[in-house]
Amino acid sequence: MQVKPDNCSIIIFGANSDLAARKLFPALYELALWGNLPENYRIIGVGRADLSHEGFRSVVQEKMARLFPEIRQDESSFTLFSGRLFYVRVDLSGAEGYHALHHELMDVSRESGICKNLLFYLSTPPSLAPVIVRGLAGAGLGEKDGICGGWRKIIVEKPYGRNLQTARELNGVIGEVFSEKSVFRIDHYLGKETVQNIMVFRFSNGIFEPLWNRNHIANVTITIAEDFGIRDRAAYYEEAGLLRDIMQNHALQLLAAVAMEPPVDFSADAVRDEKAKVLRSVRTFTSENVAHSVVLGQYEGYRSEKNVSPESRVETFGAIKFFVDNWRWMDVPFFVKAGKNLAETVTEIVITFKCPPKNYFGPAESCSYTANQVIMRIQPEETIAIKFGAKRPGEAIITDPVYMRFDYKTSFTEAGLTPYHRLLLDAMAGEQMNFIRQDSVEYSWAIVDSIRDAVGGQLPDAYPVHSAGPESVERIYSL
Ligand code: BG6
Repeated sequence: MQVKPDNCSIIIFGANSDLAARKLFPALYELALWGNLPENYRIIGVGRADLSHEGFRSVVQEKMARLFPEIRQDESSFTLFSGRLFYVRVDLSGAEGYHALHHELMDVSRESGICKNLLFYLSTPPSLAPVIVRGLAGAGLGEKDGICGGWRKIIVEKPYGRNLQTARELNGVIGEVFSEKSVFRIDHYLGKETVQNIMVFRFSNGIFEPLWNRNHIANVTITIAEDFGIRDRAAYYEEAGLLRDIMQNHALQLLAAVAMEPPVDFSADAVRDEKAKVLRSVRTFTSENVAHSVVLGQYEGYRSEKNVSPESRVETFGAIKFFVDNWRWMDVPFFVKAGKNLAETVTEIVITFKCPPKNYFGPAESCSYTANQVIMRIQPEETIAIKFGAKRPGEAIITDPVYMRFDYKTSFTEAGLTPYHRLLLDAMAGEQMNFIRQDSVEYSWAIVDSIRDAVGGQLPDAYPVHSAGPESVERIYSL
């Protein structure tokens, strides 16, 4: 169990956003119910809507009751929580609202001393992040201003910028106001139990790591598939597309966790050094290699979704063959496939090992049928299976694939925290291991920018809803 965080104020920009309603407030509410928040804390919602503190509390309560009826919400628990909720209206591009926020925080300070520690959460579109950070600095609320002492931290939601250039600009602006140790670039995948377990699986066991390299591994596949479309997020998705929404962050972070070297120790920076080195080693894309390395797709009917342009060229699917050009992984393909409106919702990593040098039990090609695999189901099931060949009972020697399986559900009784519970606590405690460092965010954008540049304005290939993606995907496997 983590130590209780310091007393603090949590200031949420984009307090009326979908993310705040679906993830942040429920997580904070549950942390409060479980007694994981500090003794003394306040949550200050910041938004453009004109709301009183009371009005804001009702909005939060109504959304939570509607979206999460299963969370315990009796009057007394909610009243206790809502007494900690406040609201400040801020027009993000003017200076006035930030001064009002300053004033609210000073009021809090007079009442309870919790202005000392401030955790800012930017749940806003990427273009607003630099505006807000400058606004905070202008009102003397940055880390380097130090009003009323204590710490200042900032969590920035993904996507962090739109490309390498805007990410660098944002890093520059944030760097003027906060030190890197106080910046928490969030990717909620890093808060998933099964994602954190990748490192434990690799580095706490002696039997896998000696084989975890190009001498023994034939390929790695990473799948992040969803069986639903963009839901009501057209405005965001038309700007982002799959490459920015999933590849730049979740997918490349999974790839880094699978491919990283053992860190010198288990500190945030040592772990992040190794992930950064992987991302730096990923081969970038060019007009020469793009044709057999990248397939982008768009599900049929995407252009008729509400608020989507009828001519949209935005990709909702990507299958990409990555190479990590380092000593351990040279020439081992990492096939990463992700998309909306695919046949099922699953996130999975499959490590496929090379066949034995000689196949005694059938033609050489039949080995792939029983090839050893480590199959990590990140979700919805939380399992790891090891696949190997076994003799089918009977007179003849016939090999069949069989599986040894570990399941979180049956092996443990403890309930895990959801990513937002965990990552909010981590940020309050100043624990950065599961947040993206400045260098990694830039390396990831360099990779995604190279894909976008290499693909140019090409139209994504169409694929039917609830299928495996466009047929053209085969091209990245065969060439
Ligand atoms: C978000 C993306 O970061 O992750 C969404 O913006 C995606 O498009 C979601 O659906 C998937 O997260 P999870 O945890 O439900 O797999």
